[in-house]
Amino acid sequence: MRSTFVKRDILRGEGLFWSNLKLDLVKGDTVVKSILKGAWGEALPLETTAIMGASGAGKTSLFNALSGRTGPKLRLEGEIRFGNTIIDDSNVGIYQKKLAFVAQEDVLNETSTPREVIRFSARLRLPKATTNEEIDELVSDYLTNLGLDKCADSEIGGTIKKGISGGEKKRTSVGIELVTDPSIILLDEPVSDSISFLEHLDEIFTNFGRLTLLLLSFFYRHLVWMHLRE
Ligand SMILES: Nc1ncnc2c1ncn2[C@@H]1O[C@H](COP(=O)(O)OP(=O)(O)OP(=O)(O)O)[C@@H](O)[C@H]1O
Ligand SMILES: [Mg+2]
Repeated sequence: MRSTFVKRDILRGEGLFWSNLKLDLVKGDTVVKSILKGAWGEALPLETTAIMGASGAGKTSLFNALSGRTGPKLRLEGEIRFGNTIIDDSNVGIYQKKLAFVAQEDVLNETSTPREVIRFSARLRLPKATTNEEIDELVSDYLTNLGLDKCADSEIGGTIKKGISGGEKKRTSVGIELVTDPSIILLDEPVSDSISFLEHLDEIFTNFGRLTLLLLSFFYRHLVWMHLRE
């Protein structure tokens, strides 16, 4: 197995910690709905952390809060810390660059192929000095490690024109984020679309080993126990 993807941030060992998170839906100064209250937790480097909860429990909301994606109608209070740094307005941009977020629903261009969308993400988001040959090589490695070789050049497809499988789509979405070399990856419901994703977990995180926060829904807990070793 390749180990070229084990990167500096991991060796530096920065964990993600959050405490007293309170997320409210507000209208002016009035709280319309309380979404998160007193949420706390940690995700340590080189570990996969699973958060489970029933539908509507607030998993996606927690991820939005942790990745600084709360809109104007949501008010967030509490503390988020990355390593020793408390995240605030002055450093949220730097923090967000180290963070990758794979959303619950895949947002992929149906007429592209996995290789094309991962290459596009790499070209757009990696340093400009990276040559096209380096990018092609990197993309090939990611495709192999994500178990996408056999569908790498197939159309992604959608509801009308069937293309690659649900699991392959989810892994393509993960590839789009991993190729940018994040320190933290947040995966929202990786198994509700694709149980096959979990079967690749060990492989993926042995090869790309990094701080990972994995989010799963309640119903798949037996699969999580099977696939997460600690
Ligand atoms: N912007 C918003 N406006 C109104 N309600 C919201 C908003 N964001 C979240 N909620 C509510 O907060 C609760 C938590 O939603 P969230 O999407 O975080 O749940 P979840 O745990 O991810 O559920 P699922 O497993 O179904 O994805 C739900 O009741 C949802 O309706
Ligand atoms: Mg959700």
